Amino acid sequence: MIPLARPVLGDAEELAVLEVLRSGQLSLGPRLEAFERAFAERIGARHASAVSSGTAALHLGLRAVGVEDGDEVITSPLSFVASANVILYERARPVFADIDPVTLNLDPDAAAAAITGRTKAFLPVHIFGYPADVPALERHGLPIVEDACEALGAVHADGTPVGTRGHPAAFGFYANKQMTTGEGGMLTMGSAEHKQRVDSERNQGRAPDMGWLDHDRLGFNYRLTDVQCAIGLAQLERLEDLLAGRARVAALYREALARVDVGVPCDDTDGERRGWFVFVVQVPHGVDRDEVVRDLRSRGIESKPYLPAIHLMSFYRERYGHRPGEFPVCEDVAARSLAVPFFPEMTEGEVSRVAEALVQASGLT
Ligand SMILES: Cc1ncc(COP(=O)(O)O)c(C=O)c1O
Repeated sequence: MIPLARPVLGDAEELAVLEVLRSGQLSLGPRLEAFERAFAERIGARHASAVSSGTAALHLGLRAVGVEDGDEVITSPLSFVASANVILYERARPVFADIDPVTLNLDPDAAAAAITGRTKAFLPVHIFGYPADVPALERHGLPIVEDACEALGAVHADGTPVGTRGHPAAFGFYANKQMTTGEGGMLTMGSAEHKQRVDSERNQGRAPDMGWLDHDRLGFNYRLTDVQCAIGLAQLERLEDLLAGRARVAALYREALARVDVGVPCDDTDGERRGWFVFVVQVPHGVDRDEVVRDLRSRGIESKPYLPAIHLMSFYRERYGHRPGEFPVCEDVAARSLAVPFFPEMTEGEVSRVAEALVQASGLT
């Protein structure tokens, strides 16, 4: 079976983990700050806080910009469910707006049309690693929290790397991501005040100079262990190769699928650069996407519907009464999309096998 994803881990990660184990300091040790500094430097962000997941990073980012009970946050319905869930963690309301049919990111005009007197912030998602149009959203002067969990390595048209515009931006390090710590996340941000608040809230609301017993605000246990930070540091060392490997596989896919009747991820335009995370194809109208997934499996190839529309998930339907037809671009894309195997060490032979299987699956030509 060709798997969907496979992390690249080697001697450097093994050694790094062993060193932490031998040091005896498994959490809140020196690797935490070292990882934060190295990550911030690597992407060019002013501050970075390492946390236990991309979801935790998003949650603390929303709190940092002041999202509260009853606020509205405008976001994309084509995303992993966590980007909407974190809004609910603060008892605010996720207000969805439709996506751009080419980039698959939040459509800035639709987002603007969704602004009300209760709008507190935008939560754009750099979906499938393609930079969202954050500059267009910035014109409204509202706080922005970026979901960059899929977008390490992406660059905006003006040359700013995703996650360095000063807004809190969340990265994720789950095992399928560009780099991994098993589970983990990082929030980058431009404000020292935000950094201070995030560092405290990830650690039960403790101020840095406080002892064990005093906590001056509500907090969480969103800490990333030193073992994970050590893996992250080793992964950062090889990040250039990991990103280049993904870009190489994406180019192979493009070539192999050039004559196949499926939609492929949009090309980089106007200086925007994708940080390759997944390779998502769209089957033509009239082809049963789920049947294609089953067919691929029978041919030894893992794939999955990616991504379902959040507003049509049963929890969101029941809670907010969402119905099909509200966000037609998102719904059309969500119904026809599937992620195919994609990882840096994928061989040319494996890419050809997937492409050929896609051709044969359910009568695609
Ligand atoms: C777009 C998006 N947002 C948020 C997340 C949540 O990240 P994590 O799984 O690290 O909590 C993910 C990762 O799966 C994601 O792809």
